[in-house]
Amino acid sequence: MAPHFRIEPLDAKFGTTFGAVVSDIELSALDEATWRDLYAAWLKYALLIFPGQFLKRDQQIAFAKRFGPLEFEMAAISNVKADGTLRIEKDNDDVMKILKGNMGWHADSTYMPVQAKGAVFSAEEVPTIGGQTGFADMRAAYDALDDGLKAKVESLQAYHSLHYSQSLLGHETAKSDGEYSGYGLHDGPVPLRPLVKTHPETGRKSLLIGRHAHNIPGMAPEESRHLLQGLIDFACRKPRIYHHDWAPGDAVVWDNRCLLHQATPWDMTQRRIMWHSRIAGAPQSEAALAA
Ligand SMILES: [Fe+2]
Repeated sequence: MAPHFRIEPLDAKFGTTFGAVVSDIELSALDEATWRDLYAAWLKYALLIFPGQFLKRDQQIAFAKRFGPLEFEMAAISNVKADGTLRIEKDNDDVMKILKGNMGWHADSTYMPVQAKGAVFSAEEVPTIGGQTGFADMRAAYDALDDGLKAKVESLQAYHSLHYSQSLLGHETAKSDGEYSGYGLHDGPVPLRPLVKTHPETGRKSLLIGRHAHNIPGMAPEESRHLLQGLIDFACRKPRIYHHDWAPGDAVVWDNRCLLHQATPWDMTQRRIMWHSRIAGAPQSEAALAA
């Protein structure tokens, strides 16, 4: 049967190990056959980019729900406040600290008892300078490790905490001023996760690292920090990374079970409004080893 959409792997243009641009498709009107092919492409490429979708709120939520139940339906990732005014960078309020924190490579919700399956992310307003979103392929990163390091990381785990990663930026606790919900800054057991994760649907192994990971049990804190940072530095470079330069109306969906991502700086005197719908992980495969 003829393909239901046009798909161009990023490899062809950027030489990356993952990702594809999908066109000739309307995400708000998918038939079942198109959906099945799209989901298979998502598992293969881990990141799908859909230019020019201009999804309305209910359309984005409905599309995200096709992937499974949502952790939350839609959150603005933006330097524009709810009242329409611009957040001032140097004020460094709690939302600004989260925006800055997201510039470190990470996977979403690894600091929660169940990490996220993926996310739909779309652009409403974008700055002219900066503001790309980076993605990094942790399947290819695992594959590229030498055998000695593969064997070493295979047996290791790390704790994942947003308190930990935000505290590195001087963000100790969320103020209860209502502007930032404090999502992820809960007080509870800190999830422990393996450094090597097996994808529940493809069976491929990947590195589970990123800014929230710390304190490998059985390792001195400095050795743990050094190993985890070394893995990020090795993993998050060409050909395993892609930075998407957004245009208004773009939507993407990524597989949070095998990719890391990062925000990048932008000229914060300019407005940036992005919308994030977070797909919940299945507890059978995405629950922490201990939490
Ligand atoms: Fe994120």
